Order: sequence, then C-alpha cells, then structure tokens
Amino acid sequence: MNFKKLLSIVTVTMLTVGTLTGCGNSKSNTVESKPSTKTDIVVIGAGGAGLSSAVEAKNAGANVIVIEKMPMVGGNTLRATGGINAAGTKFQKEKNIKDTVEKFYEDTMKGGYYKNNPELVKVLTSQAASAVEWLSDLGADLTDVGRLAGASNDRAHRPAGGGEVGSNIVKTLKKAAKDRKIDIRLNNKAVEILKDDKGNIKGVKALNEEGKEYTIDTKSVIIATGGFGASEEKVVKYNPNLKGFGTTNHPGATGDGIDMAVKLGAELTQMDQIQTHPTVVPKTGMMITEAVRGNGAILVNGEGSRFINELATRDVVSKAILDQKGKTAYLLFDDNVRKSLKAIESYINMELVVQGNSVEDLAKKINVNPEILKKTVNNYNGFVKNKKDVQFNRGDMPRSFGNGKYYAIEIAPAVHYTMGGIKINKNAEVLDKSGQVIKGLYAAGEVTGGVQGGNRLGGNSLADIVVFGRIAGKNAAAFVK
Ligand code: FUM
Repeated sequence: MNFKKLLSIVTVTMLTVGTLTGCGNSKSNTVESKPSTKTDIVVIGAGGAGLSSAVEAKNAGANVIVIEKMPMVGGNTLRATGGINAAGTKFQKEKNIKDTVEKFYEDTMKGGYYKNNPELVKVLTSQAASAVEWLSDLGADLTDVGRLAGASNDRAHRPAGGGEVGSNIVKTLKKAAKDRKIDIRLNNKAVEILKDDKGNIKGVKALNEEGKEYTIDTKSVIIATGGFGASEEKVVKYNPNLKGFGTTNHPGATGDGIDMAVKLGAELTQMDQIQTHPTVVPKTGMMITEAVRGNGAILVNGEGSRFINELATRDVVSKAILDQKGKTAYLLFDDNVRKSLKAIESYINMELVVQGNSVEDLAKKINVNPEILKKTVNNYNGFVKNKKDVQFNRGDMPRSFGNGKYYAIEIAPAVHYTMGGIKINKNAEVLDKSGQVIKGLYAAGEVTGGVQGGNRLGGNSLADIVVFGRIAGKNAAAFVK
C-alpha cells in the first residue's frame, strides 16, 4: 500500500470538492462584513441535515446562521457514496422499477430489527421521494438507481454511471445556501445552547475562528452535528465490543450536539446501537461502498471461498467477516462491475485495488488458492444463470463474471454509523425526559436516534438527513414566526 499516494489523492479529492463547492476555504464564509450576533434560527452543523434545514428555513422566510466547527461544509455526507433511498420516484419509474413506500417501510423496519420508531420511519419512507425531487430540482444528479444491502428493490439514487452521491448532494446544498445568501460560519464551534429563565431558547454560545467566545441571540436552534462515530471514547462507552475498531467517519463526528442537548434536558435513545460497515480498507479507513456488492461483487475469504450472502445487512456481513481467519476478506469483482459503477475508479486511483488479468492471476497476487477461487467464480456464475444462489440465498445478482480483468480489495469492518441519539418526534422537535417538546429546539440527521433502529440500511442516512433536515427547517421557521 502506497499510503502517501493515498493521502495525496484523498487530499486532492477533498480539495477538488472544496473548490467545486466553495467549501475548502479555511476562512469564515460569512456574507456580511461584520458577523451578525442576532438571527431567527441557528443551525449547528453544516452537513447534509444542517444545510437542508437551513435552506428550507430560509425558503420559509426565516433568517438563519449556520455554524460549523470544521473548515469545510459536508460532514459525513461528503463521504457518502452508495445512494439516497427513496421509493416511487420519477427516476425509478423511468427505469420501470416498481417500488412502493410500503416495501421501503417494511425493509427499513426489518433491517432495523423493528427497533425503529415506526412513526419516524413512516415519515422517512413517505417523504423520501419528495426529498429526492427537491434535491434534483436544486441541481443534484440522482438519475442512476441501484440496490444496496437489505433492500428488496433498486431504490438507491445516485449520479449517472454510479458516481459518488454525497459530494454531489453537498455541492448542491452548498450552492442553494449560497444562492439564498445564508450566513455559513466555518471554523466556528458551538459550545452551549442558552435558555432564558422561562425555559425559552435565547442563544448559542460559540467560539469563532480565533477561538474567541461570542453569543448569537436566537429563538430557535437546529442541532445537526452528526453522530459520534469518530469519538472512540463515546463509541466504547456505549458499546465496549467496538474497542480497537477503526472508523469511516470524518474527524468532526464526535457527538458534540448530543452533549449540548443533554445539558438542556433532552432525552437520548438507543445509544448502544452502533453500526459497523463491513467493507472498509484496514489501515486507511477508506469505506468501499456497498454499491460495489450491490452491482455484483462477491466476498471471498483467504481460501478463496464465499462465506455469506453479500447483500445481507451490515451487522450480519460484518460478523461473518470477523469470523474469517485474520478477520478480513476480499471484495472480488471484474470489469463488468467496474464499468457499472464510476465510484470504483476512485478506489483504483487510490491504489486500493489489486488487479489480475484472470481469476488465476488475481488469486496468485492475493495469495489465494487459484483452483478454489476459480471454482467459487464458476459456481457464482451458475447461480446468476439459474437466478438462484443455492449456497447463501443472495437475492439480487445483477451480473455474472466475465473474461476481462479481475479485481480484489482487502476489507474489514469499521465503525460507520451511530443509530442512537437525541429523541425527536415526527416534527423533528427535541423531546425531554418526560416526552415533552423542548420548545424551539429541533434536531435532524445522525445526531438523532430512533429512525434507524438496531441497524441502518445503506442509503437511509441520506434520506434521513434530507427528510428530517427539511422538516426541522420548516418547523423552526414556523416556530419563530
Ligand atoms: O456503502 C455505502 O455506500 C454506504 C452507504 C450508507 O452508509 O448509507
């Protein structure tokens, strides 16, 4: 592994996204010459949930300030790759994909082991199609539709050719915020949400770029700070089994919003529900999108054999990988899969992929028995032909392996998503310990708990942040009026 090269490519990629989105600037992005200290709504966090809520709040006529502790917008949304889930969209219809909100709801509840809050899942699944259309109207490319694990249908929307969806959405939302002259303050860290003696929200205490404390007076706050997947301390506190695991999260995902909400009396829910993503490159923490498996890749162990239905949910696949010798496995695919998914080109450019001119050639390079690997590939092709995986009962097998080049990426599970968080109701209002609404306080996205239950399906995080981000923005605007 040429780690230096990987780092330089990651840096170039981030800078490119930053240039495209205007978000790589380490300076504050304020639109006023003198930063205002009064506004209708403060949004804490400029990832997908924060930006969606800010745009909708502004659309509804409210003045908004977004504060973001990192030097760029995007949060974990910038890293999302596989797709945004929605059922009944025009993009599905164009491809003759027959999907329903009911199936989407059932997949989400089943995937979450029915631990999800059904009311929140109803909102998520019934409003995701309009979220996709909203993003598309703002300029996002969500025309490609593929399948991710645990889904009974193709409903993960992403850019044409299977490009990375997260950067496309961030770029779109960033532009929408800029067009609306929303004040986004990078390198500004919220430290406390303030209430007056009657219990009403009255402001947010923050540190500016120089680390100087200041207060923004406001009547309403939307917490959209993301999860805590980058805080090993918090991850281990809530799930000690995850000690020593790597993370796919950006370094800012440390759960600050949860801490601030708790100080205001907010209730937390399902904090121990933390998801690992099964296909992450050890050492680098680079997540290899589930869409590679969705588009036809298989998983093989160090002997060259399959060991699991590759489209089982993340918890199941992660556990199966950890049960293999060395606790890693190989993601195996060919030119057919590569051609179907643009995202793979980034992995090749980052030198994460071992390449072979044939199955046998690849087997030698990854030190796997060529005979066994050849047999695995032939058997799988037979399952594709007969439309039945008699070995592991994989449901969707969109393409068989061909005669071109073969590719392998060594992967292992890493912490990916924190399902638990601040308890909200269907209006994205934050609830206190007695189930009462904390007036003026809203939360959206990974910082909240209850939407994803015991296990999140791939593609449901982006749906969650946009659906609940929009709801939080609209409701906060109505509240301040
Ligand atoms: O594998 C992925 O592309 C991840 C998607 C997600 O976490 O939703």
